[in-house]
Amino acid sequence: MQVVIVKNAEQAGQAVATLIAAQIYTKPDCVLGLATGSTPIPAYQTLIGMHKEGLLDFSKVKSYNLDEYVGISYEHECSYHRFMQDELFNHVNIKPENTHVPDGNAEDIPSTAAAYDAAIVAAGGIDLQLLGIGHNGHIGFNEPGSEFIYGCHKVELSQSTIEANTRFFDSEADVPRAAVTLGIGSIMNARQVVLVATGEGKAEAVRRSLEEDVSPMCQASILRTHPNAIFVLDEAAASKLSR
Ligand code: F6R
Repeated sequence: MQVVIVKNAEQAGQAVATLIAAQIYTKPDCVLGLATGSTPIPAYQTLIGMHKEGLLDFSKVKSYNLDEYVGISYEHECSYHRFMQDELFNHVNIKPENTHVPDGNAEDIPSTAAAYDAAIVAAGGIDLQLLGIGHNGHIGFNEPGSEFIYGCHKVELSQSTIEANTRFFDSEADVPRAAVTLGIGSIMNARQVVLVATGEGKAEAVRRSLEEDVSPMCQASILRTHPNAIFVLDEAAASKLSR
């Protein structure tokens, strides 16, 4: 487990983009696990810049996103399908057929979720999994609870996540109450995990993840047992760490 502390969110984005670029250089047909939300945006912007300068080729890269809301269309401006198009896919040469986001609108979510896990395994597994972290310590949408759930599954979002994500919607009432998320097993099976956290609002979740007992009440804490996990933090997100 490595912890890298940089000055601000922009530098965190550059550090994360460097790790992702190194993965693509090492294995051009790698499988990336990707995240949405505000935190990865600086990293995606850096990757787009590298691609536009001719430094990074996504033509063989495959990607599997962590999660998607249940009950909003893929064209909805807050869907994670749309987010990935807008923030990364439309600006680099990744092939659309190589990008994957869980299906939050499937009629039979358990079987499409199982098929999503199987597709990741068939692709050779995730080489690098990028993660943000929720204020409650969630990774993907694995919310605090009594257990770590292994596979891709449907989850009811916690009130804290609904409140945190209201900023993307017109009102709290518009935030979907459920999502489909990759499970902790798929995340832990990734060969490398890179969690990025920026801003003071994430400092308590980062402290609990790194300094309290490993517990499903703070799902990110399990990453301490991963053989190749890196936390990339800015100074504000690291501000509550005691060591
Ligand atoms: C997004 C995801 C979530 C976010 C987390 C932090 O795909 O899986 O776990 O990473 O909610 O979101 P931001 O970065 O918006 O604070």
